[in-house]
Amino acid sequence: MSENSSEQELTFVMVKPDGVRRGLTGEVILRLERKGLEIVRMEKILMKPEQAATLYSPHFGKPFYESLVGFITSGPVVVMGVKGRKAVSVVRKLIGSTDAAEAQPGTVRGDFSTAVQENVVHASSSPEDARRELSIFFPELVGEKEGGGL
Ligand code: RTP
Ligand code: MG
Repeated sequence: MSENSSEQELTFVMVKPDGVRRGLTGEVILRLERKGLEIVRMEKILMKPEQAATLYSPHFGKPFYESLVGFITSGPVVVMGVKGRKAVSVVRKLIGSTDAAEAQPGTVRGDFSTAVQENVVHASSSPEDARRELSIFFPELVGEKEGGGL
């Protein structure tokens, strides 16, 4: 499948409530698949407040934390486990900068938003974050085994 299986990674991707509301789920899936990434899990859910608190625990105490948890639980999201070579950094490049007004055209955020909070999509920022975030929604992907799920 890949030229170097040791570089295979799993990452966590989510179409946020604004993206789902605007009918952009297919657009995000299209871009991930077109790049050559594999969606190994996908589910549309209404995130529970406990899940939101765990997902965004690194931001606890920041001025935007309460608003962010309120937003992310405001409507359905589509959560995904995504696999591929260097998947974590590849997906971060595809989605663009956090502040969508500054995100490059050609990225998801650069093409579909001008906001900071309602920026269409989330993706893990490091392999460690990916493991932590996947364990909230797809625990079977990050089992005890080395490289669980790959
Ligand atoms: P994400 O976690 O959603 O992929 O986004 P990110 O890594 O690019 O950004 P991060 O710093 O982790 O922030 C998480 C989400 O919080 C919202 N946010 N609001 N100043 C603000 O009002 C502010 N800063 C961040 C965004 O929805 C951001 O994606
Ligand atoms: Mg982040």
